Amino acid sequence: MQEKIIILDFGSQTTQLIGRRVRELDTYCEILPYNKFPKNDKTVKGVILSGSPFSVYDESAFKINLDEIRGKCPILGICYGAQFMAYANGGTVEPAGTREYGRANLASFCKENVLFKGVKENSQVWMSHGDTITNIPSNFKTIASTNEVAIAAYQLQDEKIWGVQFHPEVFHTEDGTQILRNFIVDVCGCKQDWSPASFIESTVAQLKAQLGDDKVVLALSGGVDSSVAAVLLNRAIGKNLTCVFVDHGLLRKNEFENVMHDYEHLGLNVIGINAKDKFYSELAGVKEPEKKRKIIGKGFIDVFDIEAHKLKDVKWLAQGTIYPDIIESLSITGTVIKSHHNVGGLPKKMNLKLCEPLRLLFKDEVRRVGRELGMMEHLITRHPFPGPGLAVRILGDITAEKVRVLQEADDIFISGLREWGLYDKVWQAGVILLPVQSVGVMGDERTYENAIALRAVTSTDAMTADWAHLPYEFLGKISNEIINKVKGVNRVTYDISSKPPATIEWE
Ligand code: XMP
Repeated sequence: MQEKIIILDFGSQTTQLIGRRVRELDTYCEILPYNKFPKNDKTVKGVILSGSPFSVYDESAFKINLDEIRGKCPILGICYGAQFMAYANGGTVEPAGTREYGRANLASFCKENVLFKGVKENSQVWMSHGDTITNIPSNFKTIASTNEVAIAAYQLQDEKIWGVQFHPEVFHTEDGTQILRNFIVDVCGCKQDWSPASFIESTVAQLKAQLGDDKVVLALSGGVDSSVAAVLLNRAIGKNLTCVFVDHGLLRKNEFENVMHDYEHLGLNVIGINAKDKFYSELAGVKEPEKKRKIIGKGFIDVFDIEAHKLKDVKWLAQGTIYPDIIESLSITGTVIKSHHNVGGLPKKMNLKLCEPLRLLFKDEVRRVGRELGMMEHLITRHPFPGPGLAVRILGDITAEKVRVLQEADDIFISGLREWGLYDKVWQAGVILLPVQSVGVMGDERTYENAIALRAVTSTDAMTADWAHLPYEFLGKISNEIINKVKGVNRVTYDISSKPPATIEWE
């Protein structure tokens, strides 16, 4: 059985980051709401209590019965997690005199304590709390201090329980990964056996057991998540998986043909549907961005539903939902606060059972699994692309001619990024067709044609983004090429807005 670390989420913004760090140490972990500790799960090797936006003495602060965990496996409390354990055992937690945010250094720490094995003298740690532990119970032992905080870390005497008031999971804590490794490997005894290969082996076995001879249908988008999900399912159940790839006429130039070719090469059983005319006619004259999105979302479900029902005896709908989608969709009390586009819509309408083989993976892990499955690098490193496609990059109403113009310009930009070795340096790039015409001169002729905007951003999660500082020489060359080759465009601009306050897409 796969051993694991449980991270109990008390609502901190860095809980997901703790999960990522643990996985980076090749150790499987699950993030669960603070009050959902799995009491009878023998595969749990250790527990981490996260931080929280609350103070321990707030009436609405999240509290748990520590006795349910204590003695069963080692515990590491981080920030609120550390304060809660001290407070619950009779210690004192008070508002910090100088609010302790940001950089601090471990001025002294207990070098022989296993938690600090390999940690440098005066190592930098990152604090972010308005409270501090001022007194600990007699069976707690202080094991680290900073200049501001006397009790920066503690251990319970003769027990495998630690608390740290700083955040080992954040980048600015220099030896944070080392501290987490000490806990996970040296204290909890984890074997660090979580790898893409082990994930594939166990998931394929689980899928075989779960699906048996049932038939499964999956909607492909050309993106990384649905493609990896399809290849994984194909390995488990072969021809019992049917994939559907819908061309809504708003994909990139030649994308439908190229991606279909890749899928067939991967041995997938794919039905490609050309539904361009349906989408163009339903979108005719529609200018409002949200209305465009709704038409495309509904149109997609309709087309997919018809195709799925043509197949006989389908019992399952598979999706490429990944871990951040699931975590974002759940509040820490386990209730749904936001339904992600992967999680809503389709399943309700289709009355099929849901199969989500990537639901516990982070994006970088999905890519590693894809590589291990032997998928082509260009499918794995593909930029994110919005579901409604070029529709949200054509400002105003959509026509087949506008799509053609945008596809040509976009193709020059994206191919240029690849040729110049810039494609993998940006998070996402594309072209926006502006509803603006301007005067130009070509040869002896006056032109009056469209302006476009190039957009390229750097980001790690699309929540925030900066415009990519592409070389002037590159931008100049792309601008020339687009104006010379794409009929209908006589002016190219570059979008230098960051997110926030702008967004990545223009609509
Ligand atoms: P924004 O424009 O909100 O985009 O900064 C953040 C990320 O989400 C993508 N995006 C979408 N993806 N359906 C999708 O599947 C949509 O309607 C949609 N709108 C934006 C966008 O490309 C970026 O990666």
